[in-house]
Amino acid sequence: MKRVLFVCLGNICRSPLAQALFEKEIEERGLSPAVVADSCGCSGWHSGDLPDPRMRTEAARHGIDLTHRARKITNRDGSEFDYIFAMDEEIYDRLSDELGEKYWNKIRLFREWDQPDADGSRDVPDPYYGGREGFAAVYDICERNCRLIADRLFPCND
Ligand code: 4NP
Repeated sequence: MKRVLFVCLGNICRSPLAQALFEKEIEERGLSPAVVADSCGCSGWHSGDLPDPRMRTEAARHGIDLTHRARKITNRDGSEFDYIFAMDEEIYDRLSDELGEKYWNKIRLFREWDQPDADGSRDVPDPYYGGREGFAAVYDICERNCRLIADRLFPCND
């Protein structure tokens, strides 16, 4: 079994969406239950909460039901997961503080295999303080990159 973890700040917008879209991708490729996904946040500000209603609305427009409950990352996540994807560069840096050094080789940037934006950024922009279009943009980025990640980690042989 391979375990994949997605990490953002609050675990109510970006990473629960990435988790759900990655699970769908894995399911469609016939890889479940050999590959499992989870998500968490660097903060515990929203622990126990469902994803943000705006993120749930955007996901629902695409037929995706977000039911994850937010949780804060723990050092145990470092040992339990094989791949740990940070949704932006700031989270990537924070993960090296949160997790022991022996787990640092598991940490990746979620958009590692994506084209950088015009400004050279590979962040999934934090949509929390913005409008609906920010959530739509997060959806597109997450959908595209979940496909890219599955292609890289679990390539098909046919
Ligand atoms: P996320 O978005 O990291 O994608 O879940 C945020 C959620 C909550 C907050 C910031 C970002 N907050 O400040 O509470």
